[in-house]
Amino acid sequence: MSYPISATPTCFVEHTALAALSERVSQAGVKALLVGWGEYAKHLINLHPANVVAVCDPDKRYWGIKFRGVPLLSLNETVDANLIVVCEYKHVYEFLGAVTTKYSQVPFYIPPSLDYKPTWEIKPFEQELIYQELYKDTHDAPASMMSKEKVQFLLELMRLGLTFQGDVVEMGSWQGGSTWYMARLLSLLGEKRKLFAMDLFETHMMDPTATMCSDEIRRRLDAAYCNCEMVTGLVDDPNGLARIPGAICFAHIDLGPIIGAMEFVWERLSPGAPLLLDNYGHIQAPTWAFDKFFAAKGTRVTRLPWSEQGLVFKRH
Ligand SMILES: C[S@@+](CC[C@H](N)C(=O)[O-])C[C@H]1O[C@@H](n2cnc3c(N)ncnc32)[C@H](O)[C@@H]1O
Repeated sequence: MSYPISATPTCFVEHTALAALSERVSQAGVKALLVGWGEYAKHLINLHPANVVAVCDPDKRYWGIKFRGVPLLSLNETVDANLIVVCEYKHVYEFLGAVTTKYSQVPFYIPPSLDYKPTWEIKPFEQELIYQELYKDTHDAPASMMSKEKVQFLLELMRLGLTFQGDVVEMGSWQGGSTWYMARLLSLLGEKRKLFAMDLFETHMMDPTATMCSDEIRRRLDAAYCNCEMVTGLVDDPNGLARIPGAICFAHIDLGPIIGAMEFVWERLSPGAPLLLDNYGHIQAPTWAFDKFFAAKGTRVTRLPWSEQGLVFKRH
């Protein structure tokens, strides 16, 4: 089968990327293992059927099917290939790493761009399988006051926190938006630890942001992770704090500097574990109150140039 690349629909394939891929796969003697099932792989099989030995994809729904006789395989299966060719943008990082680790003697080729996006810069939130899984479900996420980028940094820090002992605590959950992302990621990671979400929730009265429906939040968080616990009340209320039984591996504080609450978190945070402040760079927080608190603990808040978040590590 033959057709000009310029005739393929530009909404599904970037012509320069397909042309670059086609040029590599068409070389005499090539036995290509394509990484990622999609439009590029289908066109390459159409155009160079004799030079493609298989397609490798992490999505098990595709394993075992064939396209024009070319099999779609999991990474557990081994083929005799002499060129690995990356065909999907979402697999440029993690899955490609797994494939090239397995086929360590086989050279690989990545076109300079795919889907109109440059491939030289790693994008973990698009190219890590766990984040791909997480972002599939985001229509279920409650509203969040946090930007996508702030939530992503929160998730990355929580993953670091999970290398320490203890539960995860969030103070200031509002409608459970940031909590939901943490909950979903904990579930995808197969975690069992508790995620405590602390807020006034529906008991917050006479505030223009008091749109927290506790039943709705509970239902959404329970669907995201079975070990999520809502703690309703003031975050420095000893009764609420008493529900957190032991060590904390990561805390997200998305409200002002409430000393009693911060003392509790600091005391329980595992040595070396991270603490993320969200309102840190907000003048109404106010920032200097956080600075004073952490200076007294012998440390300081690291400012993040791209957001008002502040990062602190518990001293050993
Ligand atoms: C900035 S919002 C949290 C935003 C949330 N993380 C998100 O993703 O949308 C701050 C929250 O802190 C809560 N809050 C403020 N002061 C509080 C206090 N002393 N005790 C408990 N909750 C408090 C408010 O009810 C509000 O929902």
